Amino acid sequence: MPTIVPYTYEKKEEKPLFFTSLVKGMKILVATEKPFAKKAVGGIREILTEAGYEVALLEKYTDRPQLLDAVSDADAVIIRSDKITAEVMAAAPNLKIVVRAGAGYDNVDIAEAKRRGIVVMNTPGQNSNAVAELALCMMIYMSRNQFTPGTGSEIQGKTLAIHAYGNVGRLVGRKGHAMGMKVIAYDPFISDAQVFAADGVEKVDSVEELYSRADFLSLHIPATPQTVKSIGYDLLKSMPKGATLVNTARKEVIDEEGLVRALTEREDLKYITDIAPDAAAELSEKFGKRFFATPKKMGAETAEANINAGLAAARQIVDYFVNGNTKFQVNK
Ligand code: 3PG
Repeated sequence: MPTIVPYTYEKKEEKPLFFTSLVKGMKILVATEKPFAKKAVGGIREILTEAGYEVALLEKYTDRPQLLDAVSDADAVIIRSDKITAEVMAAAPNLKIVVRAGAGYDNVDIAEAKRRGIVVMNTPGQNSNAVAELALCMMIYMSRNQFTPGTGSEIQGKTLAIHAYGNVGRLVGRKGHAMGMKVIAYDPFISDAQVFAADGVEKVDSVEELYSRADFLSLHIPATPQTVKSIGYDLLKSMPKGATLVNTARKEVIDEEGLVRALTEREDLKYITDIAPDAAAELSEKFGKRFFATPKKMGAETAEANINAGLAAARQIVDYFVNGNTKFQVNK
């Protein structure tokens, strides 16, 4: 099983500082409604203060004005799922870079950032293992009747179908394979079957085939204009008897009306998610033990994931300001 490579950088002495005149007194804000583990915050602070920056921390904020106030003198911001909208950017005249400590950046208005010359980065892969572990855990939780008395079933021998084979999907595939599952995957952006075969995974050529063969369907697609509400009735109703849809990605990719219809017509289908749907109350009431949503998104909520992603974010900021490195920029 591969380990995540920590993000490192070297100060290139021969090059002048990218933002030489700005480094002194530069302020980096860590704005996390859902805070990082203490150790991660300590590490972020150490990296940034060592580089000469001032660090400000805004955790567990409850309303927008707190964020708008905190960004007003920030040169850089580290966030998690915190929403960085046009309004936030307008309130941050010094802002040069936003780093989303995590994978999905649908919470940042990247077009507006580009328009304003603000660099947006993510930290791909750094929290993936935590999310992958949760996905497997969710499959077992549903197979064992949400840990209530009664006969459950095993995941070994079942078909695990992975929708999108990025950092998380790949780790889920490898772990599922190690647990004796038959793993299949579909990713419209990966044509080389070897990528899948190397992990003991069968490449499937259509999303329809993927769902029609899935005892467990693990979702790993990002929320984009193309994917929003793309998982609905037709795909869900095609799933085999007793199948479970596992969502550790984004709630927006589910067409909730279609989901309710599929769960109503098919009394054997199950849905477990790490991102509470808008229709959570209705789903709980109608489908009981066939539905479960975590109270707050917890896929990346491990000390390890916080440390990997948080420290990578801090290092990427220093690397950008010192060397101009834009390797992980998502709004080029
Ligand atoms: C991600 O996109 O990296 C995950 O959804 C984790 O999000 P979080 O940092 O809000 O827990």
